[in-house]
Amino acid sequence: MRLIFDTPENIALRAAKRYSDLLAAKPNAVLAFATGSTPLGLYKQLIELYRNKEISFKEAITFNLDEYAGIGREHPQSYYRFMMEHLFSHIDLDPSRIHLPSGTDVSDAAMHGYEDAIKSAGGIDLQLLGIGNNGHIGFNEPGTPFASQTHLVTLSDSTRIANARFFETMDKVPTRAVTMGIRTVMNARSIIMIALGKSKAAAVHSALFGEVTPSCPASVLQLHPNVEVYLDMAAGGEF
Ligand code: PGA
Repeated sequence: MRLIFDTPENIALRAAKRYSDLLAAKPNAVLAFATGSTPLGLYKQLIELYRNKEISFKEAITFNLDEYAGIGREHPQSYYRFMMEHLFSHIDLDPSRIHLPSGTDVSDAAMHGYEDAIKSAGGIDLQLLGIGNNGHIGFNEPGTPFASQTHLVTLSDSTRIANARFFETMDKVPTRAVTMGIRTVMNARSIIMIALGKSKAAAVHSALFGEVTPSCPASVLQLHPNVEVYLDMAAGGEF
């Protein structure tokens, strides 16, 4: 595991460079993206690189980590909309190559179908992750088995409260979501995790230096051979 400390602006630049290097070497790379506030700087940089003709997503294939259950793609807070708004509609990515879990078909067949689609694409080359205040990755909340694959989850209260800022009222925050499992994430050939701000410091510390345990899902990353963790000074403040 490689730890990289920098400002949020430089983290966005350096992480974006990982994508331009990867896509230059492998134009049809399989990229797994994340939502939330953390990757927004990186997404702006990727758009900038695309506008400057320094990167092309034409042959790339994307999978997203997770999606709320019970809302459709057209819902303003769906992760599909988030990705369109913050990245996909601004780059040359072919819409047929974009994959997010379905929020409306939460059948077992749909969960297996998502895993199968990742496998048929050749597996994930680069997985992007944020980290929750409770150590979650994707919507894999504390206690999720490390062997989990794409599955339906009930969101913890702390996650619903953290995400309530995007909804009019607390009762509009979905109670369930579909997420890639921890094994799905660990199967990626390389992983970038970004953590910004003081609110992530405790979770980051347990994830990187604590016991490897399902109580802190991100701690599983200690077992992955190719992880880069980008931290600003506030998120790394407990080292
Ligand atoms: P955030 O969410 O980027 O909005 O902080 C990260 C996460 O919950 O995984």
